[in-house]
Amino acid sequence: MTFQFTDDAPAIYDRVLVPLWFGRWAAALVDLVDPKPGEQVLDVGCATGVATRLIYDRVAPAGRVDGMDANPKMLAQAQKLSEGRPIAWIRSDVTQRADPDEGYDAILSQFGYHAFADKPVALASLTAQLAPRGRLACSIWDGHSVYTSALCKAVARIVSPDLAAQLAAPREAQGPEQLAQDFLAAGLRDVRMTRQERTIDIPDLRDFLPQHLAATPQTGLFGAADPCLRDALVAEVESHLAPYLQDGRLVYTDAVHVVMGYR
Ligand SMILES: C[S@@+](CC[C@H](N)C(=O)[O-])C[C@H]1O[C@@H](n2cnc3c(N)ncnc32)[C@H](O)[C@@H]1O
Repeated sequence: MTFQFTDDAPAIYDRVLVPLWFGRWAAALVDLVDPKPGEQVLDVGCATGVATRLIYDRVAPAGRVDGMDANPKMLAQAQKLSEGRPIAWIRSDVTQRADPDEGYDAILSQFGYHAFADKPVALASLTAQLAPRGRLACSIWDGHSVYTSALCKAVARIVSPDLAAQLAAPREAQGPEQLAQDFLAAGLRDVRMTRQERTIDIPDLRDFLPQHLAATPQTGLFGAADPCLRDALVAEVESHLAPYLQDGRLVYTDAVHVVMGYR
């Protein structure tokens, strides 16, 4: 599923979710892929471009990075945030080639893989765009965190099981072993898995939770919910997280797996 955002959702995503989750793991992913000055790199499912900008700063000025996403609102925000960095923002599905002439030295995708509708075709397309010995790296969540588990449980009971399933999808997708198998099936070699753990600190859960939901693809559904429903949801999430909460502050560990392979 591609993201269906309200107009301000990409801005909320960038302000609230990127510093807490996406930006921190983007830095870890870019460290692992280690783009070198002069390299040609593609960031797939780039959203607002947090990893893309980090890559640009490593490969510039001789190198190049392209950011690809299916969602035009995300790309508009990415363009705004990347002023001064000549990054090509490509609106496309992952199964289409970003640039028919390019052999990328590295292609990476942070938290995009679970959403690709046809995973074998997506991997075949990405592998075909790699230069010889080029590397592909995809990151996926290491299952639920205590926070996402509590949130999905509460949404299932109070809002709808279907909405909860949509929210849970990135956390309940295939694990790293299956992803590594998919890499091998696409013809990639030297496939390896790396787990990256971080401590997450949410100073005020009550303030954060509605903002998180406003930045998700399900925002339209949640936004239509009655404010009483919203309060009930916050209260239920708080009750599930009671052992982790101190004066409204939530601290927990969360982790991702990166699978990387070479053409
Ligand atoms: C969870 S977001 C992660 C984005 C970004 N990598 C980050 O870390 O901030 C997943 C992104 O993948 C994009 N996406 C989902 N399916 C896609 C597809 N088939 N082709 C291209 N982009 C896709 C979505 O539009 C969304 O912006």
